[in-house]
Amino acid sequence: MGRRKNTNNNNQGSMGFTNAQHQGTKIRFQGEDEELTTESSILDESTVTGDKAIAMDDDSMCEPDVSFVDGDDDKTSADYYFDSYSHFGIHEEMLKDVVRTKTYQNVINQNKFLFKNKVVLDVGAGTGILSLFCAKAGAAHVYAVECSDMADMAKEIVESNGFSEIVTVLKGKVEEIELPVANVDIIISEWMGYFLLYENMLNTVLYARDKWLVSDGILLPDKASLYLTAIEDADYKEDKIEFWNNVYGFNMSCIKKQAIMEPLVDTVDQNQIVTNCQLLKTMDISKMVSGDASFTVPFKLVADRDDYIHALVAYFDVSFTNCHKLMGFSTGPRSRATHWKQTVLYLEDVLTICEGEVLTGNMTVAPNKKNPRDIDIMIKYALNGRRCVVSRTQYYKMR
Ligand SMILES: C[S@@+](CC[C@H](N)C(=O)[O-])C[C@H]1O[C@@H](n2cnc3c(N)ncnc32)[C@H](O)[C@@H]1O
Repeated sequence: MGRRKNTNNNNQGSMGFTNAQHQGTKIRFQGEDEELTTESSILDESTVTGDKAIAMDDDSMCEPDVSFVDGDDDKTSADYYFDSYSHFGIHEEMLKDVVRTKTYQNVINQNKFLFKNKVVLDVGAGTGILSLFCAKAGAAHVYAVECSDMADMAKEIVESNGFSEIVTVLKGKVEEIELPVANVDIIISEWMGYFLLYENMLNTVLYARDKWLVSDGILLPDKASLYLTAIEDADYKEDKIEFWNNVYGFNMSCIKKQAIMEPLVDTVDQNQIVTNCQLLKTMDISKMVSGDASFTVPFKLVADRDDYIHALVAYFDVSFTNCHKLMGFSTGPRSRATHWKQTVLYLEDVLTICEGEVLTGNMTVAPNKKNPRDIDIMIKYALNGRRCVVSRTQYYKMR
């Protein structure tokens, strides 16, 4: 299962809810009529607080291994991963994500000096769109590597647009193909998954970086950050989670336990946000190692108002720091919507929080041991407020 679930077909699993399903609301595109410009929604979400480790009174706190699901399922996302990218629908969704695609186009077009006489590797080329942008911007040569059957289409697209001399499409896994050159000057890739790390394509980019990128080479993008905030979400939690308590008079709460463990990918209305937005982790793609995608980080969310908290919400931004001017985009609830939406993690407790009170905790993130494309998340949280005292550990699995 690729993360970009095509909502045009029936492939709607836990992470394929459309916006219309969330509280029956229409997608709110902020600045819907705006042309996306150079400064495409850059890093405007982060009111960063709380960089101290937070001690919690829960014994299991020290346990870093969150690959807790041994997996009775026969099939995992790995089985479906490349199949899902063979269908045009998923590429249609990505191409029509204007924030995503236009940002890459702007990065390339407005920084042509980066590409002059340079050899580019496009990791996971899909339809070849990023390769074509690079070729048009003056790259000397572009190697477009794509594992799914979409590679056949990419070849045809490159040919029919007259770029066969510049763009070479290679069908195969980045980890298995032979590049006709020893080194490349630039690696471009759109690897980000839901919750940033779902799909684990980052590992493929790091592999390509270590194998082919020249020492002063450039990664596009080269920084990615994960954020956390908290929301009021009574209606939707009732509809998606509490629903299982009483289904036509029957107790189905065993399903509720599963439902709460599955993060929901959906668009959150910014008016639901109750606390600050905390930077959890920044990854420097040019320096990091694959193990850095497993981490435990503390958080400290301060309530902006008296309200109830039903869920934590994670989102990410990416940036291209080698541009003439810093460029990038955010997938946060205060930015224009993208197909990544946000990732909602429901809490078992409803937290009654007063303005100024602090929800503390930490989040542990790791690829699932059985299928590294999936993500295991553990959240420990505590609120010691005037109207609510709670401390709990919850586990989530993105499948
Ligand atoms: C998110 S899509 C991006 C496609 C295209 N670059 C774009 O921006 O529209 C990622 C693509 O990478 C491909 N991919 C993922 N892992 C790969 C690997 N290890 N080797 C080759 N292709 C891979 C997938 O099949 C998919 O088409």
